Amino acid sequence: MRTRTLGTTGPTVSALGLGCMGMSALYEGADDTESIATIHAALDAGVSLLDTGDFYAMGLNELLIRDALRARPGSRDQAAISVKFGGLWDAGGGWGGYDGRPAAVKNFLAYSLNRLGTDHIDIYRIARVDPDVPIEETVGAIAEEVQAGRVRHIGLSEVGADTLRRAASVAPIADLQIEYSLFSRGIEAEILPTARELGIGVTAYGVLSRGLLSGHWTKDRLSGANDFRSSIPRFGGDNLDRNLALVEALRTVAEDKGVTTAQAAIAWVLSRGEDIVPLVGARTRERLAESLGALEVTLEAADLAAIKDAVPADAVAGNRYDAGEMAHLDSER
Ligand SMILES: NC(=O)c1ccc[n+]([C@@H]2O[C@H](COP(=O)([O-])OP(=O)(O)OC[C@H]3O[C@@H](n4cnc5c(N)ncnc54)[C@H](OP(=O)(O)O)[C@@H]3O)[C@@H](O)[C@H]2O)c1
Repeated sequence: MRTRTLGTTGPTVSALGLGCMGMSALYEGADDTESIATIHAALDAGVSLLDTGDFYAMGLNELLIRDALRARPGSRDQAAISVKFGGLWDAGGGWGGYDGRPAAVKNFLAYSLNRLGTDHIDIYRIARVDPDVPIEETVGAIAEEVQAGRVRHIGLSEVGADTLRRAASVAPIADLQIEYSLFSRGIEAEILPTARELGIGVTAYGVLSRGLLSGHWTKDRLSGANDFRSSIPRFGGDNLDRNLALVEALRTVAEDKGVTTAQAAIAWVLSRGEDIVPLVGARTRERLAESLGALEVTLEAADLAAIKDAVPADAVAGNRYDAGEMAHLDSER
């Protein structure tokens, strides 16, 4: 397995990480047995970064990871676990914003350690900046947990350049987790250069634009409102038609190269720099195997030019979140 190091202070992990969110939350059609088999297959292949959030299915995603690791005695140290926290739910399934107060950080961490059945989390980060709490306070609280040995590294999620600088002034930051793909290029102008200047790595999520860019998406795929993607503007109406046309153009380039559309999309993110680790949201062993195949793909200059023609930087139709979610994104200010 190829490896990459997250920033100047972060861990060395496999060049592809496994994002476990869709195994429990937000996307329809998950199956626990297959999800656990997928985590095991990832570990067998040398994947050493598992990403979750404590609010993914209100803790169930962490319990799934715990069960997968328990079923393989000794496997806890095979993979770094990255946990996002801060999201608040109510019992009716309503979303209550984010809590980044130091006391809340410590509470969230205690629950996550308990659910995961581990004594430390490898990378810990707030999912979205709490607008009522300075990032310095949130990061400072995680830094205390690093001192206590319960957290190994501090990460950030969906923050902009100013917040990156403020957070990095408090404690070393291993990585910024943020959406980055052929369809989501927003980090290129300012955020990625700032992360590089500060020695902060990037774990890129949505590298397949949540499945839209995978080559497996179809117009009739979303069956109802239970799938979070129903709320994403690029998955609906005319936007979807235009975006699927871009995917077909990418498919042509991929087929010429002898790879799948998903592999081309993942390989493109891998080609953006050694400091970037794509997190793939595979939920089945079949999808995992396909995405791992991207590690074998080398995109030459001619391939990159063909991809650029097929999917120009600003070609995607529709935002990556709905207006309410976009407003929470420090990275979009
Ligand atoms: N920090 C943040 O704000 C944030 C936000 C969202 C996610 N994340 C993290 O990033 C991870 C990845 O995000 P994501 O799941 O949205 O990303 P993604 O990899 O772009 O999309 C995953 C979707 O694509 C489908 N897919 C089709 N072909 C695939 C292939 N070859 N390999 C993998 N998936 C394929 C998946 O499975 P099916 O075909 O089976 O449906 C799933 O529906 C999440 O699990 C989570 O840990 C972080």
